[in-house]
Amino acid sequence: MTDLSLPPLPGALPDKRQVAASFSRAATSYDSVAELQRDVGQQLLGRLPSSFMPQRWLDLGCGTGYFTRALGARFAETNGLALDIAEGMLNHARPQGGALYFVAGDAERLPLQAASCDLVFSSLAVQWCADFASVLSEAHRVLKPGGVFAFTSLCVGTLYELRDSWRQVDGLVHVNRFRGFETYQHLCADSGLNIVSLENRPHVLHYSDVRSLTHELKALGAHNLNPGRPGGLTGRARILALVEAYEQFRQAQGLPATYQVVYAVLEKPL
Ligand SMILES: C[S@@+](CC[C@H](N)C(=O)[O-])C[C@H]1O[C@@H](n2cnc3c(N)ncnc32)[C@H](O)[C@@H]1O
Repeated sequence: MTDLSLPPLPGALPDKRQVAASFSRAATSYDSVAELQRDVGQQLLGRLPSSFMPQRWLDLGCGTGYFTRALGARFAETNGLALDIAEGMLNHARPQGGALYFVAGDAERLPLQAASCDLVFSSLAVQWCADFASVLSEAHRVLKPGGVFAFTSLCVGTLYELRDSWRQVDGLVHVNRFRGFETYQHLCADSGLNIVSLENRPHVLHYSDVRSLTHELKALGAHNLNPGRPGGLTGRARILALVEAYEQFRQAQGLPATYQVVYAVLEKPL
């Protein structure tokens, strides 16, 4: 099970307790704003080998369980396990079914036996894990030979418009930090898993104003949780300065917010 008593890992990612609490709070609002998340997860489903029929699968960082239910419909529901660090997400997902078990746990220390899964599916969750090498080593451990680890994540360049706009206002950390795509490449290459595909593709969303974007991030539970983020309320003058700075990015469709998405399919050697 998750050991949240451990100190946060070194690096710039937020404390796991805060991640779990933030996503738990977002459980009821998440689905209403998760358009990009659904699109990205659907694309990951489309990248699974077509003839692949896992006996036991894991939805890692299942959130509200949208893809748990998609996996349950595509493969046998009774062999599925959905895992998340946020109890609030699990409480929301469990009654909607899709998997036999809904388990609280940490992707960096999976509460599963070795060689117990044929598929580990994880969409837009591992960017929250400071120690991605541990996530890979855990996926390697729980997969059977020939098993597949399919994941999506976010890398450097995500929300750069918001980050650069805040930088012009106060130079502080207002946007979650992300690993570089090269780090994903190196860590996957060193994981002992074979890389079937690994690529980085940008997705750009558009908003009428900055407030719509920041409200959406909060409803997703994905607003800034980094150590070093500014505390307290954000003053009116600073918000106005942010709105003005973001305007430099405006396009015909509105204010852009770029997500740099990593898509990966890895396979455990036979
Ligand atoms: C953006 S949501 C994605 C949810 C779902 N996979 C989807 O595509 O809609 C990220 C999820 O990852 C979970 N998460 C973050 N860190 C985690 C960790 N270390 N172990 C397991 N789950 C984690 C969060 O609680 C949250 O539910």
